Amino acid sequence: MDNASKLRYDKLCTALHHHNYCYHVLDRPEISDSEYDELFRELLALEEKHPHLITPESPSHRVGAPPLKKFRQLRHVEPMLSLENATSAEDLRAFDQRLKRFLSSEADIEYICEMKLDGVAVELVYENGRLTAGSTRGDGQTGEEITANLKTIASIPLVLREPFPPRIDVRGEVYLQRQDFQEMNRLREEEGEPLFANPRNAAAGSLRQLDPAVTASRPLSIFCYGLGYAQGVDYRTHAAMLKRFEQLGLRVNLTQTRVVQGIEQAIKTFFEMESIRDTLPFEIDGMVLKVNRTDLQRELGEKSRTPRWAIAGKFPPRQETTKVESITLQVGRTGAITPVANLKPVSIGGVTVARASLHNWDEIERLDIRVGDTVVVERAGDVIPDVVKVLVKMRSGTETRIPLPKNCPVCNAAVSRIEGEVVPRCQGLTCPARLKESIKHFAAKNAMDIDGLGDRYIDQMLQKKIIRSVADLYRLHPEDLFRFERMGEKLAEKIITAIDQSRHRPLSRLLFGLGIRHVGIHLARILARQFGTLEALSTATEEELCAIHEVGPQVAMSVTTFFADNNNRRILSELKETGVEPGSDVKQSGGVFSGKTFVFTGALTLFSRQQAEQQTEQLGGRAAGSVSKKTDYVVAGPGAGNKLDRARELGITVLTEEEYLELVNKGVSNGSEESNRLF
Ligand code: IVH
Repeated sequence: MDNASKLRYDKLCTALHHHNYCYHVLDRPEISDSEYDELFRELLALEEKHPHLITPESPSHRVGAPPLKKFRQLRHVEPMLSLENATSAEDLRAFDQRLKRFLSSEADIEYICEMKLDGVAVELVYENGRLTAGSTRGDGQTGEEITANLKTIASIPLVLREPFPPRIDVRGEVYLQRQDFQEMNRLREEEGEPLFANPRNAAAGSLRQLDPAVTASRPLSIFCYGLGYAQGVDYRTHAAMLKRFEQLGLRVNLTQTRVVQGIEQAIKTFFEMESIRDTLPFEIDGMVLKVNRTDLQRELGEKSRTPRWAIAGKFPPRQETTKVESITLQVGRTGAITPVANLKPVSIGGVTVARASLHNWDEIERLDIRVGDTVVVERAGDVIPDVVKVLVKMRSGTETRIPLPKNCPVCNAAVSRIEGEVVPRCQGLTCPARLKESIKHFAAKNAMDIDGLGDRYIDQMLQKKIIRSVADLYRLHPEDLFRFERMGEKLAEKIITAIDQSRHRPLSRLLFGLGIRHVGIHLARILARQFGTLEALSTATEEELCAIHEVGPQVAMSVTTFFADNNNRRILSELKETGVEPGSDVKQSGGVFSGKTFVFTGALTLFSRQQAEQQTEQLGGRAAGSVSKKTDYVVAGPGAGNKLDRARELGITVLTEEEYLELVNKGVSNGSEESNRLF
């Protein structure tokens, strides 16, 4: 082994761990993203050349582990306790009284108030500064070992900063930001996947993945707040421990943690936290109140499952009770059948709720929900309302169960539920509901963008049987539409022109529009850039597809299955016959926005958000939802608020819509194809 390589390797590892800490824990990067990337690339190159150098803590190991068959169980050295709940100021005062009695002292107790994050509790075991194991809470004694998954979370350090104790088991909450949760659900919807009910479920689902690569693709984060077994540590207060955690490189929510004297101040903090709850980027469901001094914590000790020195002050849930009047089964484009509960309208925190998604049949079975049931519905943040539970005692006996449909509620074709999937799917290829949804998807803004071809017209075209597939759209004449309700000559011509104009959209849009399972707009672009033509993609093998970065076996199979299907092939050849000839997509690396990240905020007036995002991506850039240090430009329209403030704080270049357009026009005239121009 050559010694210089080993030295350089260790240096790179140390540097990367350090910059990771500056970025994720301190929120104060010392180098630019591209400098970081350069160090990272150097590390990968060294690892490839000298594989024996690789250590389990290598910064490259965040995504390296192969999928598991099943999780192992891991025993916590110190049990992971849970917390008693307080639901009112009175409960908190009673807690304080109990402690005073127990301590035989009337003196004000010093408390530390932490936000109660609504995520998944985990334990991280660091031995000699290295992350050697990580697990879920499980039953408190034993959890599931999810080390490889936890290693993919960028804010979890793989090695602690020195000086570290010989052993320290740290507890924290893994969570997803609300916005990332919404984005994740949006993509899942686009790809016909079942939606997650709330950020906590999404975080839990992401952590319990047997394939760490899936966890790595989810933007999870952590806040650490507790200690399990440890050797060589002694903190006088909980606050000092949190501070020390941060020095060790662990991420702690210190900015929103308060040390207070006496219960009244703690109660005040509780209401303050509740009042800012909706403005936070993550969900909290209460405040955790802890006795700050560790000697008092020890004196107070614990009961069988909960410590005596801490309590969770829970915010009143945004819940109401109402009745399930009926259930509608919605059939999506992929045939997925989603049950939706129609509720007796009820107001929850000022918003009227009349429907709630039941997500899937596992959820129906878990809740044992029936038509006629009285249910508790909850609205979490701005998330779709959710049925939390059924009030079984309120049943009259006339409630009816919701059976798994054997046949599609729309076309009556057989319904199948693949082993391991929770979603039953209509198998009818000609199902009108599927057809309608797939035509809507084909014509949608980020697919073929057929302006003016709304739901109403698609419905009528299908009802009057003038179209049977997306290809038929391109055979329509204005006269075909005259028979429609409220359709004049002008409007008919406008729609036909819009259909006409969509013939040469970039290949990525056509691919996305075809609705191949698991191929969202992002993957469609990757495939379009890689293969260039529909013909080339249609003959690609699974191996060729899998060789592409970001394409996994599931996508590869879905693509080859799509192109092997006779019905799909017929539609593709009809599209060709009717003159649909997609334009090419710009290569990402060649685009003028290559490597640049944009955030659009405020009310955009010159173009839609979607247009701007597509344009940015076509020129090689990336459009992100939130402002971070990785953002290069923020494009702000009228009324821009928090994101604009954040951009100014971070010193990011802010552009007006006009300035953005200037950049785009420069980029387009610099050689990108005309067909890629959106505005
Ligand atoms: S302390 C012995 N602190 O709440 C103390 N828990 O109901 C145990 N949680 O399982 C936990 N934020 O998942 C603590 N700042 C915080 C927390 C927190 C969220 C969760 C955690 C725990 C549950 C207890």
